[in-house]
Amino acid sequence: MGQLTITLRPNKKQEAFFNSQHRYTAYGGARGGGKSWAMRTKFVLLALKHPGIQILLLRRTLGELRDNHIVPLLKMLADTAVYSETKKEFLFPNGSRIKLGYCDGEQDVLQYQGQAYEIIGMEEATHFTYFQFQCLTECNRYSGNMKEPFRPRMYFTCNPGGVGHDWVKRLFIDKLYRDGENPEDYRFIQSLVFDNKYLTENDPDYVNALSALPDARKRAMLYGDWDAFEGAFFPEFDPRIHVVKDPVIPKNAFLFRALDYGLDMTSCLWCAADGKGNVTVYREFNAPNLILSQAAAEICARTPAGEKIRYTVASPDLWNRRQESGKSGFDILNSSGLKGLIKANNARIPGWRAVREYLNPKDGKSRLAISHSCAELIRCLPLLRFDEKVREDASSQPHDITHAPEALRYALMSREPTAKSKITPKFRRSLYSFESPQTEDGYNGIIQYD
Ligand SMILES: Nc1ncnc2c1ncn2[C@@H]1O[C@H](COP(=O)(O)OP(=O)(O)O)[C@@H](O)[C@H]1O
Ligand SMILES: [Mg+2]
Repeated sequence: MGQLTITLRPNKKQEAFFNSQHRYTAYGGARGGGKSWAMRTKFVLLALKHPGIQILLLRRTLGELRDNHIVPLLKMLADTAVYSETKKEFLFPNGSRIKLGYCDGEQDVLQYQGQAYEIIGMEEATHFTYFQFQCLTECNRYSGNMKEPFRPRMYFTCNPGGVGHDWVKRLFIDKLYRDGENPEDYRFIQSLVFDNKYLTENDPDYVNALSALPDARKRAMLYGDWDAFEGAFFPEFDPRIHVVKDPVIPKNAFLFRALDYGLDMTSCLWCAADGKGNVTVYREFNAPNLILSQAAAEICARTPAGEKIRYTVASPDLWNRRQESGKSGFDILNSSGLKGLIKANNARIPGWRAVREYLNPKDGKSRLAISHSCAELIRCLPLLRFDEKVREDASSQPHDITHAPEALRYALMSREPTAKSKITPKFRRSLYSFESPQTEDGYNGIIQYD
């Protein structure tokens, strides 16, 4: 292994980042400020200075990790550390290790469970969920490989926006701490694109491109303005209010399902309305890659025989006929056993408004309860973001978190008076006849229901 000689010229903010020994240091703000450079350079310095130190550097996706870190580190450490592509780690002669990883899916973070790293870096931390951050804090501990004592630390780089906007903003910008969080542990260093003279001198077009972004994005990316993004679409959602352990569904409750079908993800919710304007989501089903007939079979299989489902409200595009077969999604679901399908009212903004109304707590109680078993709905609701262009709409990105909330929107819209009045007497009669042969249960039609 050769001698590593690099001349570092950090700017003032990068220097502050290098020198920070807080438990949690976030280097945030504008894109192009030199954050990623600072993160990987800091980690090389730590690896060289502290023999045996274990370092984990994470990005959300492998592609980003490779371009942003593996390639530049390979160049920088060619004669200094041995890189293993299978393990994605740089091993230094002094026993130090920089492991590079990514957490594409929510659960990918679990692979680090039980491991120990004195240093963990989360690149673009706002792309990670709070759950992922919390899992990683558990791995941030003494690994036992170092001879000297070392207090574990985490480093973050971040831009405003993204699924993790709220937790990063809370901890580092708003500094609103909860029990068990020590305010002194958190340090925020603000980066601006103008701090990085390498970029402003060598690539003035980059700054010009940032200046040309739509306003909210520009304020976030160029000036690092954390308030430029509204954050959570449903700030009303509070698991302490809305999530219920094993909700009791009364025998006479009005049961229905809501379905957001897509080949990438089928999301179905089972709901109970109580006749007083309250709805409980008591079961969910989510699965990728199901063709329509499989989706129908899975949903029917998850509905016990005694459960009288009055209707299943589903995305209206299922009623479009396919040119090749002349059949619609509705036809296929229906012939596969999923009866009682009705078209959802897909007006997005009124639909989200309805969800908001249900979530909005009055005297500490809300009209919507979600069983704790509906993990996907509970995960996705707080992650929904505002659309940057259409002010009252939810963003369709990241796409994988939109399915369960869309099904919830269909479900609650089906309880709105306008939607109900569309149900014809003929359809109401058909409701009695398919899964609910006994009409003497006191149920007298959807329109009169709540
Ligand atoms: N102190 C520095 N010395 C040399 N190059 C730097 C320095 N700071 C930033 N750069 C370079 O500037 C560019 C943008 O920096 P980067 O770290 O990717 O910004 P950010 O992560 O904040 O978007 C990269 O090419 C990076 O290597
Ligand atoms: Mg970066």
